[in-house]
Amino acid sequence: MGQIAILWTSLLSWLLFVALFGHGVCVEVTVPSDPVMQQRGSSVELPCHYKTSVDQNFMLEWRFAPGSTLPDNGKQILYFTNNVLYKLGSQEKRLSLLQDTPKRGDASIRLDNVRASDAGTYICEVNNPPDFYGTGFGLIHFTVLMPPSAPVCKGPTSAPVGSDATLTCNSSEGVPAPIYSWTRLDSKNPLPLSNMVLNEQTGKLILRNLSLSFSGTYQCVASNEFGNESCKLSIDVTGTAQAGVVAGAVIGVILAILLLSAIVLYFLRRRKQQQQKKKKAASIYSGNEIREDATAPGIPEASLHERDSKSDSLLERLSSRPGSASTTKSRLNNFLV
Ligand SMILES: *[C@@H]1O[C@H](CO)[C@@H](O)[C@H](O)[C@H]1NC(C)=O
Repeated sequence: MGQIAILWTSLLSWLLFVALFGHGVCVEVTVPSDPVMQQRGSSVELPCHYKTSVDQNFMLEWRFAPGSTLPDNGKQILYFTNNVLYKLGSQEKRLSLLQDTPKRGDASIRLDNVRASDAGTYICEVNNPPDFYGTGFGLIHFTVLMPPSAPVCKGPTSAPVGSDATLTCNSSEGVPAPIYSWTRLDSKNPLPLSNMVLNEQTGKLILRNLSLSFSGTYQCVASNEFGNESCKLSIDVTGTAQAGVVAGAVIGVILAILLLSAIVLYFLRRRKQQQQKKKKAASIYSGNEIREDATAPGIPEASLHERDSKSDSLLERLSSRPGSASTTKSRLNNFLV
């Protein structure tokens, strides 16, 4: 009830004031137009000055819109009215007015031990009823400066020769935005410049057409003017492509040898089997076999000897003839032997 009564009297007095003096007075708030920046952990002053011709019912209010929240959605963090200071929200213990009594034109505030979450838009608003004219508020953009947080390195632990590998590096914190760089740790060779694409803003490194010499440990450093942090990553370039060819060749040779052996074995076995068949057949039909050493049936051995002796005597008879007989005999002897 009391507040409504104050409001009504304020409104009435303002109407009276306007009626009497026209638009001659107003509240004029000035704040820095450039963003205010401060390092995390330090204290920051957010300046806000105002001019007004009336100092009755003075009301000061500070609001905060975190990050990129619109100023219209800002939450009240401090206000001063009827000579009493009120502080609200998570920043209240770190928040103070620069002047104990912000009535003499300085409504600046101070924030101690600045945190990353303090970044955003601060709105300073002065109301001095019945002085409702003019821009009674000002916006301050506050940036919290901080070194990059420890980045996270990501990428394949192994990759085949000839392929591409993408390594990423990212710090979740860091204002201004960190710049990323990559280096080789365990090699005298610097990064293969002709085979790489680096984006310093995103931290992405692409290694193209990997060769075995690309194996090793890579380090990413995220840095800004407030500090730097790093992470490491090991990549093992595997010779799968070449090893594959070699393995293929070896397997091919082994297969060829096996195939040849199989063919040779097959023919050897077949020959053996044929020989065995032949033998079998031979033992079955052995009756028909011509035995040259055996005497023909029905002819006594003696008669054969007789025939031999007859031929001998014939030869003797021939040899008894002079001249060509000796040669004939030796020929015949050869034939018989
Ligand atoms: C990839 O690298 C090898 C040597 O490491 C080279 O012979 C080949 O031409 C390269 N291929 C491409 C597509 O650059």
